[in-house]
Amino acid sequence: MEDRRIKIGLIGLGTVGSGVYKTLESFEEIEIVKIAVKNKNKNRNIQNLDYSLLTEDPYEIVNNPEIDIVCELIGGINPAFELIEKSIKQGKHIVTANKELLAKKGEEIFNFAEKYNKVILYEAAVAGGIPIIMPIKTILAGNKINKLEAILNGTTNYILTKMDTENSSYDEVLKESQTLGYAEADPTSDVEGYDAAYKITTLATLAFKQKIRIEDVYREGITKIRSEDMKAANDLGYKIKLIASAKMDDENCADVRVHPMLIPKNSTLAHINYVTNAVSLTGHPVGHITLSGPGAGEFPTASSVVGDILAIATEIKTTDYPLPMMRCNHNKIAKCINILDTQNKYYLSLNAKNNKGVIGNIGNICAENDISLESIVQKYVCSDNTADITVITETCCEKNMQNAVKAFNESEFINKVNNLIRVQI
Ligand SMILES: NC(=O)c1ccc[n+]([C@@H]2O[C@H](COP(=O)([O-])OP(=O)(O)OC[C@H]3O[C@@H](n4cnc5c(N)ncnc54)[C@H](OP(=O)(O)O)[C@@H]3O)[C@@H](O)[C@H]2O)c1
Repeated sequence: MEDRRIKIGLIGLGTVGSGVYKTLESFEEIEIVKIAVKNKNKNRNIQNLDYSLLTEDPYEIVNNPEIDIVCELIGGINPAFELIEKSIKQGKHIVTANKELLAKKGEEIFNFAEKYNKVILYEAAVAGGIPIIMPIKTILAGNKINKLEAILNGTTNYILTKMDTENSSYDEVLKESQTLGYAEADPTSDVEGYDAAYKITTLATLAFKQKIRIEDVYREGITKIRSEDMKAANDLGYKIKLIASAKMDDENCADVRVHPMLIPKNSTLAHINYVTNAVSLTGHPVGHITLSGPGAGEFPTASSVVGDILAIATEIKTTDYPLPMMRCNHNKIAKCINILDTQNKYYLSLNAKNNKGVIGNIGNICAENDISLESIVQKYVCSDNTADITVITETCCEKNMQNAVKAFNESEFINKVNNLIRVQI
């Protein structure tokens, strides 16, 4: 076995990069030889930082023949994609935390890495500090996984938890989250579900061993959730969470999506609050397991990145073909169902005129669209002589539900469809 220090280059020294730098200080066998940043003169909250390692030119890492492993920790597609491809070409293994890149360009970079006999590891990209990628590739490899349900975005889980516990509006909690640094100034990627969609794309690809394309993932964010929905859900025995899910049916057709969901209060995911993330997985022979923990942050994410670095470092001292089990080449594109053809249960909140026959009209519209009702609740009449009516349907087809919503919008009995949220089945 070679006895030498493994040399790495960090591209990016932000939240994740700083955690990686600080964590690697205690690993003598790993040497950081260069760190690329955007602005060398920026103040950094790293006590023992060797500023002589910093460069504003990431190609000083990419083209450095001494470097064994490149850690891409800048995010986004460009220049991350080009830097990874060029690093692989220069003979380097890759560790990345870049969920967007993996979801949009995963197939390309994995095939490229394989061509050059290099490894790309990405434990931090899906659930931050929760180990889920390595377990699926290794100790769970004997399973046929057919279902994943997960909370993969801390910002939206924080907002929904606060709305639930404090009875606050989405706008109020978002503003507070931005002040506290839990939400970005531009929160779109989190609150519209893009971040969770990137993550479930990568996770489902790995779990189903078939390529899930990001364009086949249905996505809906949390911006339309009202405190009234939170309260109504609670009264009915549910919590509302942004759930990223992936299912594979017996005909090998995948259903991958991100949207708010009513989940029973006693379910495991209903207890995952604030910025905590969780992944529930069902497979054979393991059955059902849930892993939960910190999905983001300097040190939890560094834990995963450093784990990946050490896995590669140990291998490259001993073999020319490292980590065969952990390579990724799922090129078969999965057949995916259109959301309109899926079967779901629904929570429907309607604002109705306080007229006789309203409940009958709601029942008729549902019946005309082949939708059976599990419950229908009207608690009181508001001062403007309208009433909020909450409906829970039985399982029915999304297409039928959308047609029913159209009919409610046109009904003389209904003022407004307040919200339509899917319910876990
Ligand atoms: N933050 C988390 O908790 C978390 C969790 C899981 C995954 N991730 C993923 O990890 C990656 C990094 O996230 P982060 O939160 O650490 O980002 P961040 O705090 O914004 O840091 C980005 C770093 O990249 C550097 N950088 C940007 N463009 C560059 C360029 N062209 N060349 C060289 N350096 C460049 C920046 O330099 P300056 O410092 O000079 O500005 C900064 O150090 C992203 O892919 C993200 O999705 C993050």
